This record gives sequence, structure tokens and C-alpha cells, in this order.
Amino acid sequence: MSNRHLITVEDVSNEDLDDIFRLAHDFKKEPRSHFGDLSGFVVALLFFEPSTRTYLSFGSAAQRLGAGLIGFTDPDRTSVAKGETLEDTIRVVQTFADIIVIRHPMSGAGKQAAALADVPIINGGDGANEHPTQTLYDLFTIDEIFGRIESLDVGFIGDLRYGRTIVSLSSFLSRFPNSLHFIGPEEFQIRTQLEHQLLGRGAKVVKHRRLADVIGELDILYVSRPQQERWTCGESLERLERVTPQAIDGSRPGLAVMHALPRTDELSVELDSDPRARYFHQVSNAVPVRTAVLLRSMRPE
Ligand code: NCD
Repeated sequence: MSNRHLITVEDVSNEDLDDIFRLAHDFKKEPRSHFGDLSGFVVALLFFEPSTRTYLSFGSAAQRLGAGLIGFTDPDRTSVAKGETLEDTIRVVQTFADIIVIRHPMSGAGKQAAALADVPIINGGDGANEHPTQTLYDLFTIDEIFGRIESLDVGFIGDLRYGRTIVSLSSFLSRFPNSLHFIGPEEFQIRTQLEHQLLGRGAKVVKHRRLADVIGELDILYVSRPQQERWTCGESLERLERVTPQAIDGSRPGLAVMHALPRTDELSVELDSDPRARYFHQVSNAVPVRTAVLLRSMRPE
């Protein structure tokens, strides 16, 4: 994170990750341990797309550090509705805030903002492209459960084509010796560019049609919501397999079922009481990890 922008997981080195983990552990134990460190600073949350977790957890993280908050979740009530460009919005807001968290429906929006911003930009999700801070707390959760983020068999199921959490997480995991299993029909499989990138790094990538073909081998099953807001080719919900207690029958006892949330019908509520369900544990790490991210972005070099 040397340039202090966080646009893609490539901006996070393995040393950065260790540091984020260390800080996030502190915040889990004592959420107010750095209260006041960002006192007098202002964090702007510019959300051009719907959000619950990312918006609120960054807001909570900023306040845990004593920072002030400005922002919006409804661009239709801002000058965007008058036709203001993203560039102009960033140029303006950076004079009001010390750090900007942006979520946008367009892939590459975070990069575009970072190219002209003088303040650190954090990508809170850009189209079907990336969601790096989600990955950071996914990895933190995996490390808590397994004590490592390598030598794991990780299955990804659901909308792998348009889910940005899949891109960022699989990409980070491919730095280490992990086996990455992508489960589902061709129209929901990962995009060719991601597959090439993973293979180019020497990752073990295996595609499966059905969950039953691989469930017994997995340490983690990461479920991606159908991203219907991005569908363009007549994709059909019926083609996606649902994750239910029956569907994970035959799994390893220590399987961790993860999901970035929000879930719709792809992940059965019947799983919630199953010890293999880890998604609410996962989301409980959003604030500690994002507090660590904000603190690091604002620290003097
Ligand atoms: C994810 C996202 O926005 O990409 N949500 C989140 O931030 N937890 C997942 C999703 O919307 O499916």
C-alpha cells in the first residue's frame, strides 16, 4: 500500500496483509484502542451503488478512530443527477475530505478516481471488477478459522462471472499454494481474463459442473450471490445451484461456508445453525479489518 490508494488486491503486499491482520486483531480485542488517532480527519463515503455492509462498516471504522464522516448513498440526490462526472466529483470531494471510499457500478472507477486524487482512494467495489477490502476480511476470517491462508482447497460457487468478491479473493489466494475450484455451468464460470491471470501465476485451477463432484475435497465453499443487476446475456437463475444442508452433505467436517452477503436464495437459511456456516462470523470482521485499513491509509509514511 505504498501509494496509499487501495484499488486492487495488487496494492496489498504480503507484508501489508500481516500488518493489517495484526492491527485487526487489536481492534477485535479492543475496538477503541486507537480512538482519536484520526481525530480531526474526515472520511468521505461516496456510494454510487447500493450497500449495507461496506458503507456502514467503513462508517463505523472511521468513528472508531475518531474521524468525521461525510458522504452519500444515493447519487440521484447529488450533482451526479445534474450530469457531474466522476472526475469532477472526486476533484471537489478531495477538498472536503482526507480519504475517499468509493463504490461504483463501473469497473475501473476506483482506478480512475485514484489517477487524479491527491488523497488516498479506497475501492469499495467497482462493477464486476474488484472488492479488495472484502477480500482482506475474507482472508482474515480464513486465517482465524484455519490458522493459514495457504494449502487450502477453496471452492467458489454461484455467480462467478459477475461477482467481484470472487475476482479479488481468488487472485490473492493464487499468491500461495492453494487449489482453486470454480463450480457451476459455463455461463456463470469465471471470466477468461481471470482464469488466465490465475493460471499465469501457477495457481491450481479446476472447474467443476456440480458441487457434488468436489464437495468432499473442500476446506472452504465461498458462495457468490447472483449479480442480477449486471446480467446482460439472458442468464437464468434456474441454472445456479443452491447451497443447502443436503448440497454440502459429504463435506469435510471442518468445511467453512463463506458468503460476502447479502444473500438471496442461493444460500439456504437452513444452513445458518450448521457449524460449517461461517458467513456471520466473516462479516463480524468487517469493522476490525476496515479500521486497520483506514488507519494505515492515513498514517504518515
Ligand atoms: C458484495 C459486493 O458488493 O460485491 N457485498 C458486500 O460488499 N459484502 C457481494 C454482493 O453484493 O453480492
